[in-house]
Amino acid sequence: MEIRAELAKAERHPCELLLLFSFESPERPEGVLSRVDEAWKGVISALMKQGDFKGESDECRLLHTQGALPARRILLAGLGKKEDFDLEKWRGAASKAGQFIRDCGLKTFSFAIERMERFSDEELAESFVTGLLLGTYQYTEYKTVGRDKIKEIMEMVLLVEQAERLKLVQDRVKMGTVISDAVCMARDLVNGPSNSITPAALVEKARRMANVYSMGIQVLEVSEADTLGMGAFVAVAKGSQEPGKFIVLEHNRDRGFDTLVLVGKGITFDSGGISIKPSDGMERMKDDMSGAAAVLGTLEAAAQLQLPLHLIGIIPATENLPSGKAYKPGDILKTLSGQTVEVISTDAEGRLILSDGLTYGLRYKPKAVIDLATLTGACVVALGDYVMGLFGNDEALVKRIEEASAKTGEKVWRMPLWDEYFDYIKSDVADFKNVGTRAGGAIIGAIFLSKFVEKTPWVHLDIAGPASITKDRPYIPKGGTGAGVRLLVQLLRDWK
Ligand code: BES
Ligand code: ZN
Ligand code: ZN
Repeated sequence: MEIRAELAKAERHPCELLLLFSFESPERPEGVLSRVDEAWKGVISALMKQGDFKGESDECRLLHTQGALPARRILLAGLGKKEDFDLEKWRGAASKAGQFIRDCGLKTFSFAIERMERFSDEELAESFVTGLLLGTYQYTEYKTVGRDKIKEIMEMVLLVEQAERLKLVQDRVKMGTVISDAVCMARDLVNGPSNSITPAALVEKARRMANVYSMGIQVLEVSEADTLGMGAFVAVAKGSQEPGKFIVLEHNRDRGFDTLVLVGKGITFDSGGISIKPSDGMERMKDDMSGAAAVLGTLEAAAQLQLPLHLIGIIPATENLPSGKAYKPGDILKTLSGQTVEVISTDAEGRLILSDGLTYGLRYKPKAVIDLATLTGACVVALGDYVMGLFGNDEALVKRIEEASAKTGEKVWRMPLWDEYFDYIKSDVADFKNVGTRAGGAIIGAIFLSKFVEKTPWVHLDIAGPASITKDRPYIPKGGTGAGVRLLVQLLRDWK
């Protein structure tokens, strides 16, 4: 969808459809709505008085103007109660209206932005674009039957009334577009099946990004990772015929900016390995590279927005499969950090590949390390799929993440990392085990990771719940969600 902002007045603007919003049961139409109503001789206020449009949230009424206005159609969309209004509601409303317009088969529409309640027009513009692009996302790559029936909006024109606001609004429209496109790119990777989204496919994606945005890239083959001493990553990778890859992408090298490391779990399919998972629902495990997708999406947005930060994206990518060459319960692995791990379950593979990813990241002496991983089913048991588990060893960094979460609506919930939990992974034969008890499983996974970040400020986001969902949400269609991209880009935008 092409989105642009232009200087125009809604009531004088010719278009296929003009979208107008209203809060629930207003005394009378307000703002742009009232001016269009006036130009249309009170048709809208009459309709509202009659109770044919109440402004309830998700309500949509399509009207034909029959030549009475330059706009051929008006879509009245409800925002619900004024006192409940916030940017999250707004993104949902933009999404709902977008889906309605798309399903009508229209290819273009216009919408006049104005300030509402406590929000400026430019921040509303960014959130509108976000809700619209994310809510109308569709994954159609493998649909071959009825392709001609797939509906898609091609263009949206945002109308701005005051010339002095245009540039501001345009900048935020660009911001919203870049970030939403990055989220959709991550969703495509998560929705893609594991026979297509292999470690090599992630490399290809990373290489393309490196070319387009002049990023540094380094891809270690499993043999090279072995030579370096990444015994944990190599153990997981060696069970699969599909070659594992250890990807390092670098934005803004040697420019004196703060260095931040992002590590994403890139298990392109998690069968559990020798500790094989039950077959019921195993297809979902194609999403076990959602952390990697979030890192790629974040770097893409950061590069497009030219964020003044030195960013390192680290993606250990491999399948986790059983085979004659696979690692086994009881094996003892030597990690890149030098610490040894006794394998209890080959299904706790994420923490193994991440441990080497984290240790590798410390080479850059970062100001902070953040990892994202579909790490534990236990986190889904604890928190459900609306929210990410947030773990961290540094209060300031945790606070930054919580602030980014509040701004974006990507929910996080702080979980503890007390030393006592380490008792669960003490091993008789190695430095620690890769599994503790089922109880407290998400925390135990995080405690394991904490052993690989030394004193560096670090946050671990367990995205096992929100990475992909089975029911549509206001602006997140079911399937891969691109969880983490908006959160991290917000963190980077606000980094000082
Ligand atoms: N990829 C899974 C975690 C997962 C489970 C993500 C369900 C999304 C939905 C991870 O590799 C795994 O299998 N973890 C085990 C850990 C256990 C063996 C300690 C789990 O959660 O059961
Ligand atoms: Zn697993
Ligand atoms: Zn996994």
